[in-house]
Amino acid sequence: MNVLVLGGTGGIGLAIVQQLLLIKPHTNIHATFFHHQPQYQHSQLHWHQCDITLENHIKALAKQLPQLDVVINAVGMLHTTEHQPEKSIQQFDTNFFQTNIQTNTLPSLLIAKHFMAALKTSSRSYFVTISAKVGSIEDNKLGGWISYRSSKAALNMAIKTISIEWRTKLPHCCVIAFHPGTTASALSKPFQRNIASHKLFTPTYTAQCLLSLLARLTPQETGQFLSYDGNTLPW
Ligand SMILES: NC(=O)c1ccc[n+]([C@@H]2O[C@H](COP(=O)([O-])OP(=O)(O)OC[C@H]3O[C@@H](n4cnc5c(N)ncnc54)[C@H](OP(=O)(O)O)[C@@H]3O)[C@@H](O)[C@H]2O)c1
Repeated sequence: MNVLVLGGTGGIGLAIVQQLLLIKPHTNIHATFFHHQPQYQHSQLHWHQCDITLENHIKALAKQLPQLDVVINAVGMLHTTEHQPEKSIQQFDTNFFQTNIQTNTLPSLLIAKHFMAALKTSSRSYFVTISAKVGSIEDNKLGGWISYRSSKAALNMAIKTISIEWRTKLPHCCVIAFHPGTTASALSKPFQRNIASHKLFTPTYTAQCLLSLLARLTPQETGQFLSYDGNTLPW
């Protein structure tokens, strides 16, 4: 099995890589990093440096990986050194909004465009993007975090749209958006204080949830927004 994990140096991405190597030791894994040089090495793991917001980087990576069974996009951002997610529309900043869209929305469209051919080679394939429940329009009861929420809502629309197109073009591919739950990582660090300890997952637990979900999902179940516990979320 050939797997690509984009964002393999992230809290969740690295845990997915490590869990996959543990439960399926013969899997051939390709993983990407951006700023952080990967420390973790394994004979079945191949690292690629890639800025996944750039189409030429994605295109070049796709040329190197013509056959894939699973593609998981675990790249994302919630805050930068200059900006925390907004509590009010008065804190809205155009550049921060664009960075959210560029990092959380755009890459999955570019990945789908350039890795469609690679996923077509497999008799059963998976295209997974790590989204977030706060991107659900129906579930939005609290407001706030307007740039992150909007970028994940747009991501969800992109995933749903790709899943519909691929029902005919890639009928063996299951396309899903996955909500990981609050997971201890650099992304969630500034917000962990108010989370009850049993609701703050380890990246290992989150990766296990995703991988056990993939083990039972069939291509007929494509086009869903799924939570770590296997429940379907409203788009
Ligand atoms: N953690 C949570 O509680 C939580 C909750 C809901 C949803 N999520 C979602 O889960 C996903 C993973 O989050 P995480 O918690 O694992 O975050 P994280 O630990 O901060 O990891 C983020 C990853 O994204 C990569 N990255 C950022 N910008 C990139 C770019 N332009 N090109 C390529 N790679 C880039 C980083 O690579 P480098 O480190 O190499 O720069 C890193 O691998 C995100 O989509 C996030 O929105 C997380």
